[in-house]
Amino acid sequence: MNNHQKDAQPQSTKHNSPPLEDRCVQVLAPATVANLVCGFDVLGMCLHEPNDLMEIRLLEEKKIIIISADGYPLPLDPAQNTAGAPLVEMLNELPGNTGFEVTIHKKIKPGSGIGSSAASAAGAVVGANHLLGDFFSKQDLVRFAMFGEKVASGVKHADNIAPCIYGGITLIRSIYPLDIVPISSPKLFVTIVHPQIEVRTSDARQILRKEVLLKDAIRQWGNIAGLVAGFMQNDLDLIGRSLEDVIIEPVRSILIPGFDEVKLKCKEAGALGGGISGSGPSIFMLSKDEPTAIKVESVMKEIYNRIGLAYHTYVTTINQTGVTIINN
Ligand code: HSE
Repeated sequence: MNNHQKDAQPQSTKHNSPPLEDRCVQVLAPATVANLVCGFDVLGMCLHEPNDLMEIRLLEEKKIIIISADGYPLPLDPAQNTAGAPLVEMLNELPGNTGFEVTIHKKIKPGSGIGSSAASAAGAVVGANHLLGDFFSKQDLVRFAMFGEKVASGVKHADNIAPCIYGGITLIRSIYPLDIVPISSPKLFVTIVHPQIEVRTSDARQILRKEVLLKDAIRQWGNIAGLVAGFMQNDLDLIGRSLEDVIIEPVRSILIPGFDEVKLKCKEAGALGGGISGSGPSIFMLSKDEPTAIKVESVMKEIYNRIGLAYHTYVTTINQTGVTIINN
């Protein structure tokens, strides 16, 4: 741990020049499931699949260059790009003439609900920090990466960013000041279906009611506490019972064709439970073992084949590492 990490504060200010080690690094930036049904904006989980592939190169000039490797129409102005905006913030806290060129192979489709913008933001800051000899703490990286979420949805939230950077399941107890709590969990299998429609996070936030009834709030925080306790105590029944959302899901699920049927039939097939991944349209289900997760996948396929809506599915597990450096 370097001095900066030891002293890391949410709004850190003083830095000496970082040691510049390697010139270029490749990272895998994973998908994430935000909210975990009841924990709107406060819970998130990192997945092994799918991942964006990113290359970050050190420049000896204070500037950011964004390259979309496969021609995906990403904004190339750094301030408007979900990978660029966090790096602009990082450069503001770096002395000297350092910059970064970022090449993005976008594999996690924007608007899918599995943390596409967070993967770009987290991948960029973790890769850049590696090139700086891990100058910044993980908490600093989350703070920078949230600027990418602001570009994407107009609001800073860390429930995709934190698990993407820390790995595993994280609780964001607060973002002002930043307070991230890693939550241990049993090995669980995750099945995702991504119906091929786009739901913009900004739209999916706009339709939410701004006030909640006290009786709904009580049910919701009972579920959040139950879910966290279930993960930490390896209590699968408690996890299943707590995967209930009485505030957000009733409003957002109307944007997702087949949602109620998917949820019902996947649970009948043995899933512990699940719901909308992030702001949708992806739906995730947790299962205790791989055969159940695969059965859940066939249920999802059968429903979307019948509805006649194109989709992608993934059967994966919880990624305890987060963004991974794959070579220098
Ligand atoms: N917590 C956020 C939301 C995640 O549900 O709007 C979206 O990325």
